[in-house]
Amino acid sequence: MSACCLYFFSATGNSLAVALELTSLLQMPEPISIPGSMVLDDPYAAARNAECVGFVFPVHRATLPEMVRGFIVEMPVRPDCYYFAISTYTLFGCNEFWDVDEILCAQGARLNYGASIQMMGNVGLLAPDTRTVQRRREQMREQAAEISEAVANHQENYFRRSNKLLGRLVAAFTSMRRRSISFKVDGSCTRCGVCAQVCPAQNITVDKDGAHAPVRSDKCEACLACVHWCPANALSTQTPLHSHYHNPDIKPEQLNPHARLESS
Ligand SMILES: Cc1cc2nc3c(=O)[nH]c(=O)nc-3n(C[C@H](O)[C@H](O)[C@H](O)COP(=O)(O)O)c2cc1C
Repeated sequence: MSACCLYFFSATGNSLAVALELTSLLQMPEPISIPGSMVLDDPYAAARNAECVGFVFPVHRATLPEMVRGFIVEMPVRPDCYYFAISTYTLFGCNEFWDVDEILCAQGARLNYGASIQMMGNVGLLAPDTRTVQRRREQMREQAAEISEAVANHQENYFRRSNKLLGRLVAAFTSMRRRSISFKVDGSCTRCGVCAQVCPAQNITVDKDGAHAPVRSDKCEACLACVHWCPANALSTQTPLHSHYHNPDIKPEQLNPHARLESS
């Protein structure tokens, strides 16, 4: 499927693992980073003539991440193009497909297919145990196989729309919390720069000479990538995470929005 392209956003690697699985099954070009595309002269070059465009992203606060929303809002769309969206989540999604559909409909297209895949959580509530990680990985592969078949056949589906109110409530509650998120860096920081590498918003600067701790600017997506990927667990939010998690099949350099992906 060379006339197809797949965009992804991923903080802790779950959505990238799904995107890589799908591009491999569908024999598509490698997935394209949304944060990486957004700084290019033409962020939508791959989608311009594609007959099929997909998005893979995590559920954030019951819908799609802000950066993904901004990317799709600005995207030139065509009614004859097949659009699909795959979300990864921990407990439940609500509005992500509804919201993508609304954005596309505003421009005369629509979301043809949506499916979600349950993955290990990255909100720091439960420590990931090896058996659950393995089970989720197997389930992800099974679901990705079903999704790729549906997408290859340009299948249409009716994605969930029933819990819109619940989704709006969760989004409203958690967006109040988001505004108050602040991060602390403790003395175990080694200035390794991984936090800056994985930050989708290029919001972190690290002084490699070691003079000062990582500095955050004001473009934080609150995706928690920096906290989870820090090898020294030196970063924390004001609500401490009980556990750290990142997808075991992904390396932090693959999340660098400005690096070309090496699908391994
Ligand atoms: C800020 C934030 C908000 C989240 N909100 C939800 C949510 O509303 N529902 C849910 O099931 N999971 C939620 N999650 C969990 C992620 O959707 C899930 O772990 C996802 O697989 C992470 O994908 P990634 O590794 O590609 O970033 C949230 C995670 C973060 C960091």
